[in-house]
Amino acid sequence: MQTYYERDADFGLIRDKTTVAILGYGSQGHAHALNLQDSGAQNVVIGLRSGSANREKARAAGLKVLDMAEAVQQADVAAIMIPDEYHAALYRDVLAPNLKEGAALCFAHGLAVHFGYVSARSDLDVFLVAPKGPGHGLRAVFEKGGGLPCLFAVAQDATGLARDLAMAYAAGIGCGRAGMIETTFGEECITDMFGEQTVLCGGLPYLVLAAFETLVEAGYTPEMAYFECLHEVKLIVDLFYTGGLKDMCHSISTTAEYGGHLTGARIVNDQTKAEMKRILEDIQNGGFPKKLMEDAGAGNPDLLARRKLMLDHPIEAAGEKVRALMPWLRENRLVKESGKRD
Ligand SMILES: NC(=O)c1ccc[n+]([C@@H]2O[C@H](COP(=O)([O-])OP(=O)(O)OC[C@H]3O[C@@H](n4cnc5c(N)ncnc54)[C@H](OP(=O)(O)O)[C@@H]3O)[C@@H](O)[C@H]2O)c1
Repeated sequence: MQTYYERDADFGLIRDKTTVAILGYGSQGHAHALNLQDSGAQNVVIGLRSGSANREKARAAGLKVLDMAEAVQQADVAAIMIPDEYHAALYRDVLAPNLKEGAALCFAHGLAVHFGYVSARSDLDVFLVAPKGPGHGLRAVFEKGGGLPCLFAVAQDATGLARDLAMAYAAGIGCGRAGMIETTFGEECITDMFGEQTVLCGGLPYLVLAAFETLVEAGYTPEMAYFECLHEVKLIVDLFYTGGLKDMCHSISTTAEYGGHLTGARIVNDQTKAEMKRILEDIQNGGFPKKLMEDAGAGNPDLLARRKLMLDHPIEAAGEKVRALMPWLRENRLVKESGKRD
């Protein structure tokens, strides 16, 4: 693994003369824009659709807001910070006709380029800077003086500067404080989607829901089930996040550890691993990206139905009650404002 730091990057490439147009002001967009601005970048502009509710938010943060096409015309670096399923249309309708010759396209995820939904003009640099965490975390850590690690990669180097620009951009959003790891678009997006599906956003939340349901169906109170199956996840994850599984084994009781060893392999067994291999293949061969694009093209009916089922789950009501016992959790929420996910 090749890792670089702030000292390896030349942020001057971006700081003074480069206009960076951040297209989209959501999770990643707001964090990239504000971190770049606080790092001293002189020319950060935000490109948004007309009627975007985020225009005022960006202006209030001291940023210049333009229509998408206008922002793209000014850009030396256009950073595409809108959902992956809309990258192809944005490139076709706004970026390709408006980007100046020799400009750069910056992605935060490699999906659209790796799977061929965007094929950039040959005069453009195409690079990727993918922070290893949500935008709100990227911003929060930066404000405390730190940074999240990121992956960076170059898909097209038309000017000979693509890699230097990628590192400068990554340093500007604070990732050089933690470590900038060089990879490829393919490796970044496939491992990212696999992790999201099998652990982070698929495996873990659905494991929590199934465990919660099991306790509640057996007659135990929902709040108790919430504590045991969701609330404590963070306490355990914090142990192995900061100090590896060794810290978890050190800190938990013998009862917890022995029970976990005996049952972990019953829950996550050969069948689970075989399914994980099929999930990986479905990502590698473009099956999942195709489903994502098709659902988005139809207005996200499947996504919205599945999201509704999750948010209507009784665990949410139990969570409201339990979190009310701990007001500091509300104060520490990473997502502070209403958005598409609320
Ligand atoms: N979120 C993460 O944790 C994370 C982590 C690493 C990488 N990434 C990558 O970062 C990129 C951005 O993801 P995100 O989660 O930050 O996105 P997001 O929060 O959903 O982006 C919201 C922004 O995108 C704009 N937008 C949505 N659809 C649009 C469309 N069809 N045309 C123009 N603008 C549109 C919204 O416009 P309005 O202002 O008009 O609503 C808003 O400004 C993706 O490539 C993603 O894979 C995300």
